[in-house]
Amino acid sequence: MKAFVSSFLLYTVLLCIHLWRPVTASSMQNETDRLALIAFKDGITQDPLGMLSSWNDSLHFCRWSGVYCSRRHVHRVTKLNLFSYGLVGSLSPHIGNPTFLRTIVLQNNSFHGKVPSEIGGLFRLQVLVLSNNSFEAKVPTNLTYCSELRVLNLIDNKLEGKIPEELAPSQN
Ligand SMILES: *[C@@H]1O[C@H](CO)[C@@H](O)[C@H](O)[C@H]1NC(C)=O
Ligand SMILES: *[C@@H]1O[C@H](CO)[C@@H](O)[C@H](O)[C@H]1NC(C)=O
Ligand SMILES: *[C@@H]1O[C@H](CO)[C@@H](O)[C@H](O)[C@H]1NC(C)=O
Ligand SMILES: *[C@@H]1O[C@H](CO)[C@@H](O)[C@H](O)[C@H]1NC(C)=O
Ligand SMILES: *[C@@H]1O[C@H](CO)[C@@H](O)[C@H](O)[C@H]1NC(C)=O
Repeated sequence: MKAFVSSFLLYTVLLCIHLWRPVTASSMQNETDRLALIAFKDGITQDPLGMLSSWNDSLHFCRWSGVYCSRRHVHRVTKLNLFSYGLVGSLSPHIGNPTFLRTIVLQNNSFHGKVPSEIGGLFRLQVLVLSNNSFEAKVPTNLTYCSELRVLNLIDNKLEGKIPEELAPSQN
């Protein structure tokens, strides 16, 4: 009887682990995206047009202005489109966490500080437009990990040095 009870318990525990793991994993992933967006917002010190006022708990983050989510992978952020909003602040390194991101457009704002090298974690990233901001320092070599990157616009910033060679189109 004891053996039966304990193997039943073990079976139940295993079943629970089996049933719960996928759910936990997927909610942790979209929690990652939510936390990354909150960190992004925390990096912003001025939002003169109130663009980020919709970034609050009463709306799902997929409905926050400028945030677009995947239709196939529910609750995963694929696009961040916040151009010409007069945003002032720095770009949070957590921007490298929502790994479904394909497009980041922050053109014509006043972002300063570094372009975070954590962007290298966005292996699906195709479009990165940071033009007309005040980004400083070097372009991180880590962008070369974004192997899908097709559009990179960094014009009109305060960047130093060269674009990493690996990112330049081949010259042959
Ligand atoms: C996370 O995903 C689960 C399952 O898909 C969903 O029920 C939940 O609402 C999601 N949470 C957020 C914050 O998107
Ligand atoms: C959250 O954002 C929505 C949409 O912009 C807005 O209607 C609502 O008042 C906001 N809630 C809070 C608590 O700021
Ligand atoms: C740049 O953004 C400002 C708002 O901060 C806006 O007034 C201006 O028209 C924008 N310029 C372009 C070319 O989009
Ligand atoms: C660049 O930013 C300045 C200052 O916000 C703005 O006046 C100008 O229209 C912007 N240019 C472009 C091409 O976005
Ligand atoms: C650079 O990118 C790699 C690969 O995506 C990532 O694992 C690493 O954390 C990034 N390094 C930094 C300093 O962000």
